[in-house]
Amino acid sequence: MQTPVYDFARKYADSGAVRMHMPGHKGKALLGCEPLDLTEIAGADSLFEASGILAQSEANAGSLFGCRTLYSAEGSSLCIRAMLYLALLHAADTGRPPVIAAARNVHKAFLTAAKLLGFTIRLLPQQRGMSYLSGALTDAALESCLSGENPPAALYLTSPDYLGNLCDIRKAAEFCRAHDMLLLVDQAHGAYLHFLPQTLHAADLGADLCCDSAHKTLPVLTGGAYLHIADSAPEICKSRAKEAMALFASTSPSYLILESLDLCNRYLSAGYPERLRAFLERVQAMRAALSASGWALCGDEPMKLTLRPKPRGYHGQQLAELMQQAGIFCEFADPDHLVLMLTPENPERDLCRVQEFLCKLPQLAPLPEADLPALSPAPELRPRELLFANTETLPVSECIGRICAGLTLSCPPAVPIVLCGERITEKAVQHMTYYGITHCTVVK
Ligand SMILES: Cc1ncc(COP(=O)(O)O)c(C=O)c1O
Repeated sequence: MQTPVYDFARKYADSGAVRMHMPGHKGKALLGCEPLDLTEIAGADSLFEASGILAQSEANAGSLFGCRTLYSAEGSSLCIRAMLYLALLHAADTGRPPVIAAARNVHKAFLTAAKLLGFTIRLLPQQRGMSYLSGALTDAALESCLSGENPPAALYLTSPDYLGNLCDIRKAAEFCRAHDMLLLVDQAHGAYLHFLPQTLHAADLGADLCCDSAHKTLPVLTGGAYLHIADSAPEICKSRAKEAMALFASTSPSYLILESLDLCNRYLSAGYPERLRAFLERVQAMRAALSASGWALCGDEPMKLTLRPKPRGYHGQQLAELMQQAGIFCEFADPDHLVLMLTPENPERDLCRVQEFLCKLPQLAPLPEADLPALSPAPELRPRELLFANTETLPVSECIGRICAGLTLSCPPAVPIVLCGERITEKAVQHMTYYGITHCTVVK
């Protein structure tokens, strides 16, 4: 596959051009990558008005994913804001109120979008016994979308979630079609899903709009992401997509990231599905070996290995520390889970080290599983109302009855237990204490 953006940058870097333009490093290699770092000079195109090499490269990506694909050099965070703006444009266009239904396990980018765009969030109830990071989709949860005065303009799901669970996107899409709602999917963890032997990518399963953090699961520099627009999306979402991205983005997208997305097209078109299939078999073998040695696993996303360490006698963070001492760094750990993210770029020796370490870890007396109450279903939330609120940060034990205002969430997982605008209940404080959250920002 052609790589017009990378080729342009390479040729320019090798040409000895006098750089009387940004960036300030002028191509001098302090880090080593500067010669390829560019700005919108003649011939380099312009991301949000693309008609040249960037347009060609985005079209290449779109042909690989089988839909219209736009680049983001600012992660899925940018795409999420753009998707929500597009859904609200459609709502305004069709005379609908700005209401978005969402499963509770939203990433904080969704909440910043709610603050900026002013839409109302209709939260789906959390399933009992599920982690706050999971967004399992029951029929009852779907039906609850319709509980308000007006049906929401869109349903917003996070799939895969941080623990490697996939929502039933087909079912959600059918439901949305039946009720004239758009389906938006934060698929930050799932760029590779389109290339599986049987696609699990949301754009193939009925989502109107979805985003992938290419940098999370493909060999793309941090910040590289895709916004995908399916054929089923309304015309306004297609015609105003670039405008939506530009609304929230820097006017100086990183060319290094764009070149990395460009090169990824070649990577994907040069035997990636076959390599992914072979790697999948290897991961399945590893899963089987871990299960055989007594490890409890959860999640159905093929490239995430999520361990439940308590039956083995360890807390997740304790296991993460032990692994770190052995030079193995996991993606995420909480008391009940440890998440490993794999790609075909992990060499065989990495998998062997992980497998050997885990299989040799002694079985201790199992630890009790979490016994947290289900979080109360929240009413409709309008985070925008809190954008200028006077706030204070207090120990969580002093927050019961107060309205949560804060977005002070660390990443990973950057998923809030209590959403902006929710009243903090005793149950929520139990959850926060369990997950080691000591302070919360509330409305004064
Ligand atoms: C579920 C989910 N959505 C969105 C994001 C934001 O993605 P990005 O870092 O590409 O902006 C993340 C980041 O970790 C995430 O885990």
